[in-house]
Amino acid sequence: MTATADNIIQKTIDFVKSSSSGEASGHDWWHIFRVHNMAVYLAREEKSDLFVVELAALLHDIDDWKFNAQGSGKAFAWLTQCGLQENTGQQILEVIDTVSYKGAGEPNQATTIEAQVVQDADRLDAIGAIGIARTFAFGGSHGREIYNPQCPPVMHANFEAYKKNQSHTINHFYEKLLLLKDRLNTYSAKALAEERHAFLEKFLAAFFAEWNFNAGSETQK
Ligand code: ADP
Ligand code: NI
Repeated sequence: MTATADNIIQKTIDFVKSSSSGEASGHDWWHIFRVHNMAVYLAREEKSDLFVVELAALLHDIDDWKFNAQGSGKAFAWLTQCGLQENTGQQILEVIDTVSYKGAGEPNQATTIEAQVVQDADRLDAIGAIGIARTFAFGGSHGREIYNPQCPPVMHANFEAYKKNQSHTINHFYEKLLLLKDRLNTYSAKALAEERHAFLEKFLAAFFAEWNFNAGSETQK
């Protein structure tokens, strides 16, 4: 029996849902759900291959280095099991391989329009109100401080340096989140990013205004 495209997508949704339940660092099923929805929107706007984009969006975090140290090839195994044509499977794996942010000094690797669309959808979920919530969820689940004024942000030159980073959560805004707006690929995503980026800036301004309240007073010295 040849499964239809819709069938494969529904089966993949069920598979990813069951693999990502209980994830507490902002990479739970609902992150995948939002990235999938956004990727469908962008794929239509950008006239890219919807089937490749949907499967890649659903599977994009399943082998992520941040919470799957073995890089177990779960996406590869799943796509093989779905019985896709070899070149469709390859296209999807290429998207998954190139989507992740790897540090300020590392250039974007997404070259196909499908990879660019999924990367943009993932990055839009990293900024704005939800992006802020996810970032503090990640920091909390990794035992990081919210903020430490003695530890300034670092522009990581490469992926190795970015991976080793154990810094407090406010630094992540400067090391990644505020840089994303200018590293998006598609016009449709750039348009959506404006408001979300402005919200990050507004949040940081309020955070530091509260942090520095009465900072110069005698009692602080
Ligand atoms: P990517 O695939 O580009 O790595 P993801 O969408 O998988 O992006 O998730 C990255 C998100 O995880 C970040 O946007 C942030 O919310 C959170 N995150 C990752 N690293 C950190 C960190 N060092 N501090 C705080 N949050 C982090
Ligand atoms: Ni993601």
